[in-house]
Amino acid sequence: YRSVRVAVLGAGTVGSQVAAVLLERREELARRIGADIELVGVAVRRLDAPRDRELPRELLTTDAESLVLRADIVIELMGGIEPAKSLIERAIDGGADVVTGNKALIAAHGTELFERAERVGAAVYYEAAVAAAIPIIRPLRESLAGDNVTRILAIVNGSTNFILDRMHRFGDSAEAAQATALELGYLEADPTLDVEGYDAAQKAAILASLAFHTEIPADAVYREGITSVTADQVESARQAGYVIKLLAIVEKAVDADGAAGVSVRVYPALLNADHPLASVHGGNNAVFVEAEMAGPLMFYGAGAGGQETASAVLGDTVSAARRHVAGGPGIASSTHAELPVLPIGLVRTRY
Ligand code: HSE
Repeated sequence: YRSVRVAVLGAGTVGSQVAAVLLERREELARRIGADIELVGVAVRRLDAPRDRELPRELLTTDAESLVLRADIVIELMGGIEPAKSLIERAIDGGADVVTGNKALIAAHGTELFERAERVGAAVYYEAAVAAAIPIIRPLRESLAGDNVTRILAIVNGSTNFILDRMHRFGDSAEAAQATALELGYLEADPTLDVEGYDAAQKAAILASLAFHTEIPADAVYREGITSVTADQVESARQAGYVIKLLAIVEKAVDADGAAGVSVRVYPALLNADHPLASVHGGNNAVFVEAEMAGPLMFYGAGAGGQETASAVLGDTVSAARRHVAGGPGIASSTHAELPVLPIGLVRTRY
């Protein structure tokens, strides 16, 4: 076998899982790829920190800057903008392909990174950045590339879905439901990212950019969280045949002057109880895509978790490694502006 050198940046819940699986399944992966994956190192902040998965000490390093230059594929799982962005740029400039699960970074700087990669013939993969285990980036970027997506309705934040689901199905108060979500570890370290809709807005921006072949930054997304949703509102909606879900909505629309564009918004929406998304319970995610030729499609599954997210990261790693050994052009990762973003925020359509 030829050998492909892989580096992992970050050894948190997802990073340590990815590194451990790369070691455990080395032979199996080599057969699938037609090349051996050599894990050359794992960059960590502290060498002696406790980890979900134990890793061989000799692979750990605090020198991420040197590590990225020793790899053909760099897997970034640190999260946050810096130092992740600088390290990814350094990896790309050195000719490496990048796999990342960093939704904040892709939502804010995706296009810039894709263009940087394209200039040197590298690729950026980010299946894990939206809805963890659910394959949705590839279907939008590849499977549906010849069709025209007309609308996406998505539940892309598991913790708020869990909270609203508790309120709807068990009659919990908003406070009690949030306390349970916190107890079960569903919320981000800063729960504002979840309950105020920032996390969902980042994911919506990524989905919208791909589906509509354009560039939509997260701050162009209309955003409203779930903090003002009361148990009474949930109950009234239920009695009227609706369920309140924090939906990410992406659709073609026209502005007040009749100009066509893309509207992207995240808010607690009334969803008909018969809609397939209404049965997405607990901390799960789902993306409902409508396309001209394909019709309606639904992608459903776990939107968080170490193993689940690692599944998506490893899939991307296999793709990158296959591309590396084939020397092919791989997957185009760039988007270009086909349609402008509409500043529509307050359209209260029912779905
Ligand atoms: N806090 C996120 C969620 C985790 O609740 O969906 C996955 O991005």
